[in-house]
Amino acid sequence: MTELAEARDYDDMFDIEEDALRSGAGVASDPYPAWAELLSRGPVHEGPISGFTGEEPSRGNLYIPGYQYFSVFSFAGVSAGFTRPDDFNSQSHQVSGSFTDTILALDGLQHRQLRDVIQEHFQPAAASSWWREKIIAGLVDELVGNFENQQQVDLNAQLFARLPLRTVTEGFGLSHEEGLDFRRGILAAMNYAATPEQRMQAMNAANEILDRVIRARMEQPQDDVISRLVAAKLPEEGEGTRPLTLNEIAGFCRLIVFAGGGTTWKQLGITLFALLNNRDQLEAVMADRTLLPKAILESARWYPNDPVFARMAKRDAELEGTMIPAGSILHLCLGSANHDPSRWEEPDKFDIFRPVQRSVAFAAGPHSCLGQHVAREEMLGAMNALFDRFPNIRWDPSKPAPKLSGSLISRGPGPLHVLLN
Ligand code: HEM
Repeated sequence: MTELAEARDYDDMFDIEEDALRSGAGVASDPYPAWAELLSRGPVHEGPISGFTGEEPSRGNLYIPGYQYFSVFSFAGVSAGFTRPDDFNSQSHQVSGSFTDTILALDGLQHRQLRDVIQEHFQPAAASSWWREKIIAGLVDELVGNFENQQQVDLNAQLFARLPLRTVTEGFGLSHEEGLDFRRGILAAMNYAATPEQRMQAMNAANEILDRVIRARMEQPQDDVISRLVAAKLPEEGEGTRPLTLNEIAGFCRLIVFAGGGTTWKQLGITLFALLNNRDQLEAVMADRTLLPKAILESARWYPNDPVFARMAKRDAELEGTMIPAGSILHLCLGSANHDPSRWEEPDKFDIFRPVQRSVAFAAGPHSCLGQHVAREEMLGAMNALFDRFPNIRWDPSKPAPKLSGSLISRGPGPLHVLLN
């Protein structure tokens, strides 16, 4: 693939507004003021999340017709939604048809056992050794090294889109080109404007790439995630263990490439956006890099890239004073929960010096983000490299001012044009 074709691919796949249209959710204006007002009136409101900001309920916004909805806005309510799996479970992913055969959509023992086969490889120790040393450090060197003789770059397209996709696909054992083809296939398979046949064709093409790599690793294991999944054993009912099926391995890959490639991309951009718009905090981080982990956590609190997730009520359950009937769908609004004024002072302010308190940016409970430590290593690596090499980094005044945009459920910046020297 030529450099130009590759650049076009990244531009197309990592355009936040295109992404919103492709998912069927549509571009939504800043929802935070409306969410703050709703929270001031109560922690839980009946209706889907889209109904409160005047958006059309659409499948892309976690909406499936025919269900009763409740949207949850407080920190306590959202945390309870994530941490009470006996009341609220992940059947919501099953009914929406997204990643149904993966840990995201499973519950209880089945979820824990499948997650356990790979969890250790995503723990902090593995993130800061295997992932950082084998995958992330080299990619950061290559990608940031490309800027050596450049004065103006769009960091969204040239760094933030590329690093997470390449981290997860190369970590899994896919080549750069296979990784790009694979993500393109998954996005096409989730494109709500496409016909069911087109979506099926795209998914089959993506699966073919995976099947090829999985079969190769079955023959000859390598030091990568797919080989680990191939070697893993899953407990069977009763006694004994069995290897994962091809479908279970492929499901992990699909989920992690989607979850890992699409989230860290946006959060990297949000972090840079927040720091460059708060020069005093940027200078503090430049001078004292031990502040960088705090800046990354604050960015995830202040503007979590995917601010809404769904759960389904398994039985009639009370949540923050509201009765939720069995079978209803909860829209857990992480964005609002992370701005709950009962937990954070001046919650709308990006402030890396505020006392650290856990937010729900990476969820909580059994489904809390499996890749959060890998994401953190990517963000640390990218930001440290940028600040080491380009201490004078600033917005490019000849380009439109960067802005945060996207849908109600997936938000981040558009182009991030900076001057480097
Ligand atoms: C800043 C970046 C990221 C954010 C904010 C984020 C956020 C989240 C959230 C909120 C969930 C919970 C979903 C739910 O309960 O329905 C989740 C789950 C998950 N994330 Fe992330 N994520 C990020 C990066 C990553 C990366 C880099 C990977 C992989 C390398 C990853 C893999 C996963 C997986 C596999 C799950 C499902 C876990 C389960 O169901 O048990 N994420 N993530």
